[in-house]
Amino acid sequence: MELETSNGMEKIVSLCKRRGFVYPGSEIYGGLAGIYDFGPRGVELLNNLKKAWWQANVYDKENHYGLDAGMFKNPRAWEASGHTSGFSDPMAECKKCNTRIRVDKALEAIGVTADEKMSEDEINALFDAHRAQIACAKCGAHDFSRAKKFNLLVKSNLGDFTSEGTEPVYLPGEACQGIYLDYKNIVDTMQPKIPFGVAQIGKAFRNEISPRNFLFRCREFEQADTQLFIKPHENKEAYEALKKDRWNWFLSIGIKEENLRLKQHENLVFYAKDAWDVEYKFPWGFDELEGIHDRSDYDLTQHMKFSGVDLNYTDPENGEKYIPWILETSMGMGRLFLAVIADAYHEDDLGGEVRVVLKLHPKLAPVKAMVSPLLRNKPELVARAREVYQALKKEIPQIAWDDNGNIGKRYRRQDEIGTPYCITIDFDTLGETAELLDTVTVRDRDSGEQTRMKIAELASFIKSKI
Ligand code: GAP
Repeated sequence: MELETSNGMEKIVSLCKRRGFVYPGSEIYGGLAGIYDFGPRGVELLNNLKKAWWQANVYDKENHYGLDAGMFKNPRAWEASGHTSGFSDPMAECKKCNTRIRVDKALEAIGVTADEKMSEDEINALFDAHRAQIACAKCGAHDFSRAKKFNLLVKSNLGDFTSEGTEPVYLPGEACQGIYLDYKNIVDTMQPKIPFGVAQIGKAFRNEISPRNFLFRCREFEQADTQLFIKPHENKEAYEALKKDRWNWFLSIGIKEENLRLKQHENLVFYAKDAWDVEYKFPWGFDELEGIHDRSDYDLTQHMKFSGVDLNYTDPENGEKYIPWILETSMGMGRLFLAVIADAYHEDDLGGEVRVVLKLHPKLAPVKAMVSPLLRNKPELVARAREVYQALKKEIPQIAWDDNGNIGKRYRRQDEIGTPYCITIDFDTLGETAELLDTVTVRDRDSGEQTRMKIAELASFIKSKI
């Protein structure tokens, strides 16, 4: 049985907390809206996802370069990018209970589209026409303030040592700006031939008016971005290829095809000429997982204008000069994490008892195999099991030891973590049955089947699966 939409999110949030995947940020102080921490199991899954993404977007591609840019930037960069003026959401406040809503989202929910380029007056005209249909999610009232555009950039006082304050610096509103600011350095030092790509996983911060749906809409999150620099006007074919490439990557990490779809944007954000989302069927329905944007020459032209630095690319073969166009893929790592867990979540009915299992692709699983002695109070079993555990851990780091509770409880726990294999050391391992000496049972998470395997073959077996 897969996730039901009604209580699907509750089950995911509870599992993530219970099994050390995700904790609410600063929980002992009552939390902080829109901020989450990845726990010991979560950080392993997150790192496995990042590794799979990096492999596909840097190592498996020609002419693709990795980058890790600093988060803070000269404030002029955010003026050039359009974020200080154009990066805002329309917000209104319930006059009864002060709950804030995103007006564009509230309108969208009743089938009305507010274009991102609309002025505050235009949005208010639309809002006024539909106010009667929009109720406050908290108190049910229909009495909202005027909509006001609210800039999403998060300000900081880095380097500001005066009481009057100086120009604010910003945390990145989107991670990709780091790639544009380093474009010239990459061209000068790597001499890439067009088309070339730059990939980066970086943090982004947004003053989201209403963070919601767990990791889906946060105020601090990570984005995995690839910016493909192409010749002007050569965007159509490359854009189609990019959409296909990303679609296949989601399938390669085990996401079910029926839970994915591609959707074109009707309204374009200020930098985009064309935009498609890869959507995932989250417990509340299809929603954006990744944006694939045709940004044309917008970014480099803006940064050339504001910095005064020539950002033209010179073709090494014919000396032709031009500003490359940019095709972007941008995916929130938290949204991917949530999609992967939702997709893998499974419940089996074991005659009245529910078995929860995360059917994660073995290469993503935070624990590849758990090693345990059949009985924890038999020192000879424990000693041999620890030898097996330590030897395996040297070859495959994501191996766990678990001797808590009985073997059935350990299986249930590892099923919830998504551990593909559970290895048990029993009396046959020690030679009680002569022909089974130095063999163990290996239990398969998905089928529950147990097979006997030589200890010497364990590492290569697990490696072949991951
Ligand atoms: N550089 C392009 C860009 O930032 P975006 O559509 O605003 O475009 C790209 O964001 C991706 O980042 C989204 O598809 C989503 O996966 C993720 N994302 C955006 N806002 C987010 C938020 N508040 N919390 C978590 N992820 C977010």
